Amino acid sequence: MTPPTDSAPSTDSTPQSTDRVALAFSGGLDTTVCVPLLKEEYGFDEVIGVTVDVGQPDAEFAEAEETATALGLDHHVVDAREAFAETCLDSVRANATYQGYPLGTALARPVIAQSILDVALAQNCAALAHGCTGKGNDQLRFETVWRSSDLDVIAPVRELGLTREFEQEYAAERDLPIEGGDGGAWSIDTNLWSRSVEGNELEEPSYVPPEDIYDWTQPPSEGSELLEIEFEEGYPVALDGTSMEPIALIKQLNEVAGAHGVGRTDVMEDRMLGLKVRENYEHPAATVLLGAHEALESLVLTKEERSFKTQIDHEWAKKAYEGLLAAPLVDALDGFIASTQKRVTGTVTVKLEGGRARPVGRESPYGVYSASAASFNTAAVDDGIEQADATGVAKYHGFQSRLAKSVIDDANATAEAVADGGTDGSEGSEPRAENTTNGSEK
Ligand code: ARG
Repeated sequence: MTPPTDSAPSTDSTPQSTDRVALAFSGGLDTTVCVPLLKEEYGFDEVIGVTVDVGQPDAEFAEAEETATALGLDHHVVDAREAFAETCLDSVRANATYQGYPLGTALARPVIAQSILDVALAQNCAALAHGCTGKGNDQLRFETVWRSSDLDVIAPVRELGLTREFEQEYAAERDLPIEGGDGGAWSIDTNLWSRSVEGNELEEPSYVPPEDIYDWTQPPSEGSELLEIEFEEGYPVALDGTSMEPIALIKQLNEVAGAHGVGRTDVMEDRMLGLKVRENYEHPAATVLLGAHEALESLVLTKEERSFKTQIDHEWAKKAYEGLLAAPLVDALDGFIASTQKRVTGTVTVKLEGGRARPVGRESPYGVYSASAASFNTAAVDDGIEQADATGVAKYHGFQSRLAKSVIDDANATAEAVADGGTDGSEGSEPRAENTTNGSEK
């Protein structure tokens, strides 16, 4: 069976037959069919499979290992969970979401790409390959990292125009081991930060997702739970008084909040290429941490810092979605974020209840808040400011709008009078431009 394409694969250069290629390998259908294709269609002698651990479930590694063995693939597993968890917590400081999605897949891809590049360089590979299609975001996120090296970049599924159906037939014909790889009904991408589910019936936006697409979250039920999260300079460092490392903290929050049904989203997402995709996500820890962090910022940042930071945060999230956190723009955004986060230290109490994580208490030594100043129970604002001092402010407040309104009302009244009586109704005042034909020119 030959791949459904008219032309030869278009790689960046023609590899030597003795070349080795490092393949981003998950053990799923796409990356499994890439192994023989890289040899037969691209002429590589040796394929190295690299699976990067960013917190996928254990079963995925077992499956990748099993498939790799059956394929006779030299299989490398790299643990990148720490670097990934740190990136996730950076995204909390930037309150980062894209169209409602906390960016799990997007944040993971550059970390995965870098780990694969490191293996490829250490193993003297001539090229790097991934199993992404030409329709999604991941091809772009991988390649922006890989194209900073001198290695060739190969995307067999995209270059050969493969379909899922072709891959299934190709795998069956060659007896490729895909039992675990294509067994599920949905296309799922899981890491520490989020679990994404797409494909099949979910591609129809009106299709209501069945409960079985969820794995991290229970259906929201009765009962509630309070949780205390401690932040230091915008980073969460402890849960209920116990200090925790990033990976453990995220894992624990996923469990605790997932049990209350927290962190489900169902969105129409605009991909980088402009195609819309219907996505379902689960991200309990991200929902809790993003909400708690914003609650603490609302206490310690000034009004103008908060307002300006929404723009910084928006740009940061956009670059994260694009897999471009290495861009110089992000260094500059990080400068602003780091400066504001120096004071984002304190504790937030979150109530987990009925599928929601609601901040219900916050405290910080940096709170820009004076209870006595704002209180109903005190007469003055502070030593030098009395309530009565606001009278002058109140007189000015909205002055320009009131003036504009009265000018508009006057002009409308004049126009109406002209329409009704044929005079401009403004005897004694300057004639208006539109009335100069009204006999007044003599
Ligand atoms: N649309 C998301 C993104 O581009 C996640 C896609 C995850 N892939 C999957 N097969 N579920 O970041």
